[in-house]
Amino acid sequence: MSNPVADTLMLAFSAEGGLAVPERALVIGAEPVGRMITWPDVVGWQPLKTKAEAWKRAGFELIEDLGDERWPLVVVLPGKSKDETLAWFALARDHLAPGGTLVVAMPNTAGAGRFEKTLRQATRETRAITKNKCRTFIATDDGSWDESVIDQWRADGLRRTLPGTDYVVDPGVFSAKGVDPGSAFLMEHLPHTIRGKVADLGAGWGYLSAEVLKRFPDVNRVDLFEVDSRALDCARANVAPVADGRDVRFLWQDVTLGIKGRYDTIVMNPPFHTGQTKDLSLGLAFLKVAADSLVKRGKLFIVANRQLPYEAALNETRLPWSIVAENPTYKILLMENK
Ligand SMILES: C[S@@+](CC[C@H](N)C(=O)[O-])C[C@H]1O[C@@H](n2cnc3c(N)ncnc32)[C@H](O)[C@@H]1O
Repeated sequence: MSNPVADTLMLAFSAEGGLAVPERALVIGAEPVGRMITWPDVVGWQPLKTKAEAWKRAGFELIEDLGDERWPLVVVLPGKSKDETLAWFALARDHLAPGGTLVVAMPNTAGAGRFEKTLRQATRETRAITKNKCRTFIATDDGSWDESVIDQWRADGLRRTLPGTDYVVDPGVFSAKGVDPGSAFLMEHLPHTIRGKVADLGAGWGYLSAEVLKRFPDVNRVDLFEVDSRALDCARANVAPVADGRDVRFLWQDVTLGIKGRYDTIVMNPPFHTGQTKDLSLGLAFLKVAADSLVKRGKLFIVANRQLPYEAALNETRLPWSIVAENPTYKILLMENK
């Protein structure tokens, strides 16, 4: 990660920042920061598969289960949501050794100044380095932190049940506040003939897979592909209870790199954001992978915002497709491998 956030982060370990290179460090939301590779012992925790792989490719050690281990330095590289950032502050606190130092680095556009102020509600003091339109802020555990504030962030980050459902979800994952209306619209329009082997690409916390299993008894296998391990963990909790002995697989994978296997039906509500930026190319990559993963006469059902232009990419696959339903916000596209 040679980027402005990384460069500003590393200033904390320069003469200006005054921090010594730590003997042991944990990076939450790990992204490879080139010069960290020279640190004696640094491990990274990263729920997004694409970033976890980039971290490992750069030669760093990935840790999937933080257990109750503590580190003298914890670096946080926040993601996109406020809930997630506060939950990560609490996670950092849980894994910070007594007297340890917490360092957060993020772009100003992601609300760095605001998050520094919020962190100060708990740590009372912070000091900041600003450069490259980014901010690194530092707090050292001097025994005076207000733990009640951190307790609240920890509680707000806990898994919760969505009102009116049995589904559980972690704050910060996609549609953490309720079933996505696009996905609900897709479920209303799936034909009752769905059977056999189904894939759910970008499965999130498992809504589509759980509903497919509940509604279609002739489905005998569902593979859920998801890049975010926290969402996939929720999906395990949501989908396993309705599997009724059928084969369900939870795959922590980047769909854009391709998937193994061929499916009778693929359902998807493809992602259209990378971090905070709209990114149609992700959805288009999903579409190509899905089109290549259908058995003969297999069907792909996509729900998308009406204004997202998937049609040209559908034409490129040379498979027949149609719009099976529309409402003022969403459209459902069906492609068949005839
Ligand atoms: C629009 S959401 C749909 C989630 C779920 N299917 C639903 O209906 O609630 C898209 C999902 O794709 C996941 N995603 C984004 N990029 C991905 C990738 N490259 N590979 C796999 N999943 C990805 C996101 O984490 C998110 O959970």
